[in-house]
Amino acid sequence: MFVQTQSDFAKMRSLIGPVVLASAAVVSASSNYTCLPGDSCWPTLEQWTTFNESVAGALKVTHPMEEPCYADSSSEACQAVAAAYTNLTGAYRTSFYGETVNLNWEYCGNDQCLLESLAPLEGISGTCKLGRLSAYYVDAQTADQVAATLKFVQEHSIRLSIKNTGHDYFGRSTTANSLALWVHNMQDISYAETFTPEGCSTERENVGIIGAGVEAATAYTFFADKKMHVTVGAVASVGIAGGFGQGGGHGALGPSYGLMVDQAIEFDVVTADGELQTINECTDSDLFWAMRGGGGSTYAVLLNYKFQLHPAVPMNVFAFTANLTETPTNISESTIHRDIVAAIAKNQTQWANNNVSGYNFFLPYNIISVQILPSADTEALKTLTKDYANFLSNLPGLDIIANEYATLDTYPEYTAFALPFLGTNGPLGVGITEAARLIPRTLFETDDSVDALVEAFLYGMQTSLEEGAGLGTGSGQIYHTGPSNNNDESDSTGVNPAWRGSLWHVIHGGIWTKAESQEERAQIQTTAGHAIQKFKDLTPGGGSYLNEGDVNEEDWQQTFFGDKYDRLLGIKQKYDPTGLFNCFKCVGWTGAEDPFYSCYKQEGQVPTIPLDASQNTVTAS
Ligand SMILES: Cc1cc2nc3c(=O)[nH]c(=O)nc-3n(C[C@H](O)[C@H](O)[C@H](O)COP(=O)(O)OP(=O)(O)OC[C@H]3O[C@@H](n4cnc5c(N)ncnc54)[C@H](O)[C@@H]3O)c2cc1C
Ligand SMILES: *[C@@H]1O[C@H](CO)[C@@H](O)[C@H](O)[C@H]1NC(C)=O
Ligand SMILES: *[C@@H]1O[C@H](CO)[C@@H](O)[C@H](O)[C@H]1NC(C)=O
Ligand SMILES: *[C@@H]1O[C@H](CO)[C@@H](O)[C@H](O)[C@H]1NC(C)=O
Ligand SMILES: *[C@@H]1O[C@H](CO)[C@@H](O)[C@H](O)[C@H]1NC(C)=O
Ligand SMILES: *[C@@H]1O[C@H](CO)[C@@H](O)[C@H](O)[C@H]1NC(C)=O
Ligand SMILES: *[C@@H]1O[C@H](CO)[C@@H](O)[C@H](O)[C@H]1NC(C)=O
Repeated sequence: MFVQTQSDFAKMRSLIGPVVLASAAVVSASSNYTCLPGDSCWPTLEQWTTFNESVAGALKVTHPMEEPCYADSSSEACQAVAAAYTNLTGAYRTSFYGETVNLNWEYCGNDQCLLESLAPLEGISGTCKLGRLSAYYVDAQTADQVAATLKFVQEHSIRLSIKNTGHDYFGRSTTANSLALWVHNMQDISYAETFTPEGCSTERENVGIIGAGVEAATAYTFFADKKMHVTVGAVASVGIAGGFGQGGGHGALGPSYGLMVDQAIEFDVVTADGELQTINECTDSDLFWAMRGGGGSTYAVLLNYKFQLHPAVPMNVFAFTANLTETPTNISESTIHRDIVAAIAKNQTQWANNNVSGYNFFLPYNIISVQILPSADTEALKTLTKDYANFLSNLPGLDIIANEYATLDTYPEYTAFALPFLGTNGPLGVGITEAARLIPRTLFETDDSVDALVEAFLYGMQTSLEEGAGLGTGSGQIYHTGPSNNNDESDSTGVNPAWRGSLWHVIHGGIWTKAESQEERAQIQTTAGHAIQKFKDLTPGGGSYLNEGDVNEEDWQQTFFGDKYDRLLGIKQKYDPTGLFNCFKCVGWTGAEDPFYSCYKQEGQVPTIPLDASQNTVTAS
């Protein structure tokens, strides 16, 4: 019934779409936060100064990370930026407010301060401009600073943006002409052997407590010392408490324990009314439910994330990489690709039932397959993957590069081992576009449905090959890192229900660098959408992960939130009645015609020049 209502809702939206488009007045009325530099509502310098005092001097002028290169590419500062531009660990990038991990969200229209990913020191010309970055940001470290910032933007009707690491694939952490709240420096981290959530009677054991800015690597390193595991993702610099921990959060421990949102026990948040609140299932069950999966930047500013840890066990890994001796010109007709994808699909249910997670990356000329089992039984993975490993080892047409089992005693050792294989998961410092789908368990049950999955995947790779997806041309990824054994029967999280009972998270993406024109970038995104189409056809009413989806997705409410959208929206309206928190294709989104989303269009423009433009721009000599 609910699904029905949702699709009717989607149909209705598509019908009223053009009407909304035609009437600018209706559109601008949808947000209360529209003040632009130069408008009379915009604070005077004196008001900015007073505000700065109210946040204890934490107001800062943005300098794009790449700015030193536009000033002098031989400077030490520029050399450091260039050396780390595409570094897979990402910690250098995320130490700046003035960057996003994917280049997509730093530029707007022709305004940008990008470097060429493949040759960062070459061809730097023009003026370094802010693009989507805010001219000012608050380097917030306390609840008081957050509350003062929320009060100030409300008084002046200024748009707010919240940035943690800048990993978001929809650019939800940067909005041109917003005042940015940067939570990166909230770095507290602690371990509680026992913990009782406020207002609850049940004591929990092994609880992690982290500030909003803590990144995966900091957390798994800290908790490994306590002999505990934390359910992080594949990349060291992704934050835990922001988009990841409020939107889903899948990783190598997913089949064992579920998503990050499944581990959540309690949050400290500042709500739109400026109040610091401690929320959990006992005190604020609605808001807590919504913030466990309903997405970042929607309900409140999160300050601390408290979550279930798990006693550490060894990480057992099977890692396989091979080049094809001959690169096929038509992937749909490549028996090697077909046989490997089929083998994964056939084994998938059994692997999932036994807590095996995995990452598989396919290119026309190369295959990476990594299967992972967190377990004290260091032989179990070998038993579960024996046939698969034998099959790969003997498959004709492959130049095997790596083919090994390893047992890593700690999580940091596991990530060091896995990095060369999983690096493909997310190159940093490039432009990335994706389209994805969550594939339910039922589609792995019969030979016919398995054939259909294999066909859909090869079709996606072939579409990407034919249409072109930049450096990602012909690629496809199959992850099984979701909550295959955690169905959240008690409905304690607001996360997309398509996650539950899903075994695959399939992604077709593309990669561009500064050299590609805006038309080419747009075309790469379109390719990704085309490539995932057969999986959409196989999963009517299904969905994809809001953090790793198609930015062009039209049916975004159903796709990213499923039948939880209405409840999520109701809670949003209750806790954020003025729409202070707003982000792209998030619950309660104001829509593409909201001028603050113009940067998502090719012709996008930063509406006006920030007041203190002279402080923010540097022209290459
Ligand atoms: C290279 C790469 C690898 C990835 N790998 C994985 C993976 O393995 N598993 C997985 O699940 N996902 C993965 N992701 C997706 C990731 O979950 C999202 O990019 C997510 O948005 C990152 O959250 P963040 O807080 O680090 O990033 P940000 O871009 O800083 O923030 C994301 C969103 O959360 C909001 N937000 C941030 N902090 C707060 C806060 N304190 N309070 C309220 N709102 C906040 C922001 O406004 C924004 O809307 C990956 C992404 C990349 C780029
Ligand atoms: C805010 O105040 C601090 C401390 O006085 C100062 O260093 C900083 O430059 C000020 N920010 C702005 C934008 O002027
Ligand atoms: C990436 O950064 C890490 C951490 O700073 C560093 O150890 C590593 O050498 C860098 N890698 C490259 C290829 O520069
Ligand atoms: C999967 O992992 C969970 C958490 O450690 C454990 O309770 C469960 O027994 C495991 N399942 C199997 C089949 O080993
Ligand atoms: C695999 O193929 C790629 C592309 O042709 C090539 O660059 C790489 O060197 C090959 N790797 C090995 C180990 O042969
Ligand atoms: C690729 O192979 C498929 C399946 O045989 C076929 O339908 C398709 O037309 C081929 N594409 C090209 C470009 O040859
Ligand atoms: C796993 O894949 C291998 C290789 O295709 C196959 O021999 C084996 O039967 C599969 N296992 C299951 C449980 O389907």
